[in-house]
Amino acid sequence: MSNRTNQELMALREQNVPRGPFNVTPIFVRRAKGAVIEDVEGKEYIDFSGGIGVENVGHCAEQVVTAIKEQAEQFIHTCFHVVMYEPYVELAKRLNEVTPGDFPKKTMFANSGAEAVENSVKIARYATKRPAIIAFQNAFHGRTYMAMTLTSQTNPYKMGFGPFCPEVYRMPFPYCYRCPFGLKYPDCDLRCADYLEDFFVTNVAADSVAAIIVEPVQGEGGFIVPPQGYFKKLKAICEKHGILLIMDEIQAGMGRTGKLFASEHFDVIPDIILTGKSIAAGLPLSGVTGRAELMDAPHVGGLGGTYGGNPIACRAGIAVLDTLNKDMLGKAKKLGDNLRKQLLDLQSKYEIIGDVRGLGPMIGMELVKNRETKEPAGDEAGKLVKRCYEQGLIVLSCGVYHNVIRILVPLVIDDDQLEQGFRILEGNVKELV
Ligand SMILES: Cc1ncc(COP(=O)(O)O)c(C=O)c1O
Repeated sequence: MSNRTNQELMALREQNVPRGPFNVTPIFVRRAKGAVIEDVEGKEYIDFSGGIGVENVGHCAEQVVTAIKEQAEQFIHTCFHVVMYEPYVELAKRLNEVTPGDFPKKTMFANSGAEAVENSVKIARYATKRPAIIAFQNAFHGRTYMAMTLTSQTNPYKMGFGPFCPEVYRMPFPYCYRCPFGLKYPDCDLRCADYLEDFFVTNVAADSVAAIIVEPVQGEGGFIVPPQGYFKKLKAICEKHGILLIMDEIQAGMGRTGKLFASEHFDVIPDIILTGKSIAAGLPLSGVTGRAELMDAPHVGGLGGTYGGNPIACRAGIAVLDTLNKDMLGKAKKLGDNLRKQLLDLQSKYEIIGDVRGLGPMIGMELVKNRETKEPAGDEAGKLVKRCYEQGLIVLSCGVYHNVIRILVPLVIDDDQLEQGFRILEGNVKELV
């Protein structure tokens, strides 16, 4: 566009863009490919963030770029509600086929994860004729009003933005490293799941609850993986009370955990599954896929939006599904094993790493000041992110205490890049201690 430097662009940004939309790094990108980002001054960075979990198939994956170009030359927008187009219905069909659950499904599209969440709540309430939604501690579901209400973390997501939406109730999440019940898996016998029955007595009547919305692996909340058996129990209790299970796979889905959907690791079949982020490798697209009879409950005209399921984004989505084939998922699994091994190795050397956890290549490490007290090391995580960036590695933190370093590296990263990234990460963990 121009030859401006990072500093010049930053001055332009500060003058013209509010501070609310945050920035992890002070650089501007010129181009990105695979797992590497080049800034406007020609400096290259290994990308362990994938644009916050959006680039599972890699920046500018060839098949995706070709699909986008082809579609842009044919037509860009007619609005699905005015003149329909094939990419929308084809991608819907593909998602209905590949999402967990061997029953008739339907899919609608929106533009962002938050919008998928909003639509799933509308559909669940309409279909069940019940008002309440149960969400979880540490959950993140987006920044629109309902999605923000369902989100748990106050700073920065909710602080100052109330009042929030009514009829949202919050359960403790199975966070084994900091068990809300003070128990240990597996001796706990999954008290956290059984607690739902108590919750119906103390918080909200079961027959008022339309749905439980949950992330299969909490993303922004700190890469928290529920123990095996949890979701099966939760789903059984939901079924007993006619409550829908909405699985928010916006961050954990689309190959992120080494399987197409994280739910597959838990052998649980959600009633509604939400996709976003990596679904279209960077074009704004999200999906709500669910049992056909639920999805068809709202009246004609009750769902939709001007841009939802834009044809270019849907073409990109089809290309992403083509790319996330067995080979790519196999590579993702190997990458996950490799990352786990390296992080566990770091943990054995550095006291500051309290916990290493994740599913496949969706993995992170929780930093603590002291392994006994588990006092969160949020400032240290912030320093680590900054120092890594200064040395050419883009990595993100997460967690309600901002003390979890998470890896959302594109699944196509090559061995040299991975090693280079890890060297920078380890060097800086060492510096911290
Ligand atoms: C699990 C989950 N749900 C919903 C969202 C919201 O997605 P978006 O930022 O596209 O609105 C996110 C984004 O980080 C997410 O991780």
